[in-house]
Amino acid sequence: MTDFAIQTKRLSKTFGKGKKAVEAVIDLDLEVQAGQVFGFLGPNGAGKTTTIRLLMDLIRPTHGESFIFGEKAGTRGALQHVGALVEGADFYPFMTGWDNLAVLSRTANDYQPERIENLLTEVGLAEHARKLVGEYSTGMKQRLGLAAALLGDPDLLIFDEPTNGLDPAGIQEMRGFIRDLAERHGKTVFLSSHMLNEVEQVCDQVAIINRGRVIEQGSVAQLLSGDSAYLRVQVDPFESAMDILRERWPVDRDATAAKEGGWVRVTANPEEGPAVIQTLVKAGIRVYQVIHQKRSLEEFFITVTNSDDDPLQNGDPND
Ligand SMILES: Nc1ncnc2c1ncn2[C@@H]1O[C@H](COP(=O)(O)OP(=O)(O)O)[C@@H](O)[C@H]1O
Ligand SMILES: [Mg+2]
Repeated sequence: MTDFAIQTKRLSKTFGKGKKAVEAVIDLDLEVQAGQVFGFLGPNGAGKTTTIRLLMDLIRPTHGESFIFGEKAGTRGALQHVGALVEGADFYPFMTGWDNLAVLSRTANDYQPERIENLLTEVGLAEHARKLVGEYSTGMKQRLGLAAALLGDPDLLIFDEPTNGLDPAGIQEMRGFIRDLAERHGKTVFLSSHMLNEVEQVCDQVAIINRGRVIEQGSVAQLLSGDSAYLRVQVDPFESAMDILRERWPVDRDATAAKEGGWVRVTANPEEGPAVIQTLVKAGIRVYQVIHQKRSLEEFFITVTNSDDDPLQNGDPND
């Protein structure tokens, strides 16, 4: 038995072929410890929903694989451990919330009316249980989705942007609910979000995903304390410097210094500074300045998300 609630190995998904191919998820290696609330943070289009659909076996990977509590995704063994709230989850609009859950639990051969009643109360839908889902607001559908995910009392809950469509009070409530699932009920929660503060407030661990790749991961405390370091290097010629450095380190165009021109951001420890400089000098590149900087989760995320001119795009070795 494994300690990991979720494990992915080079999980990848490309939609379409040839020129129109979209690499939605690229060589994703995730390890989510059981009992944690794990945040999967990334801007729109980063690949979060695709990853979740892969974990739920709603789509097949192009290559790579994933495991739920050690069992291959999509197998019976894996599916019985997991409940999910996936973007665009569908309910029958011509049936009530209550009846929708009844259908789901009957399908799963586990019909317990009192459990349905309790769940609807827990997610704050008691008053609307007998209303047609077609008349539900987005927030109410979201709550129903949450109840549906919890129906089979799974060990792992996967929530795709769970606060979408909720008002501020609903968001607060949802956060409390998620913490409770982990702290009081011992569940593992994997949630995706495009909002930094959401992840900060409810998660223990976080992986930041952008353009299909995980670009940073660690404990929220660690990432918030800015333990992740990088070097800013002012160089000329700039493009050659990027090419040479990216053979050994992850590099980005430094957006904060973009106007001054020629700044590369190298993800490297301070001890690696001399090696970075030496590599550049050996290649005949002029180095004007080297600055050590700590990267906070917020700064990192803003850099990633504020992007018409995405600095990470230029750091992608496969571009
Ligand atoms: N079924 C699909 N066919 C083609 N492209 C898709 C499909 N689903 C997602 N994509 C593309 O894959 C990328 C990642 O999408 P998605 O996983 O939905 O991101 P997120 O959930 O982080 O917003 C986007 O570029 C999106 O347009
Ligand atoms: Mg999504």
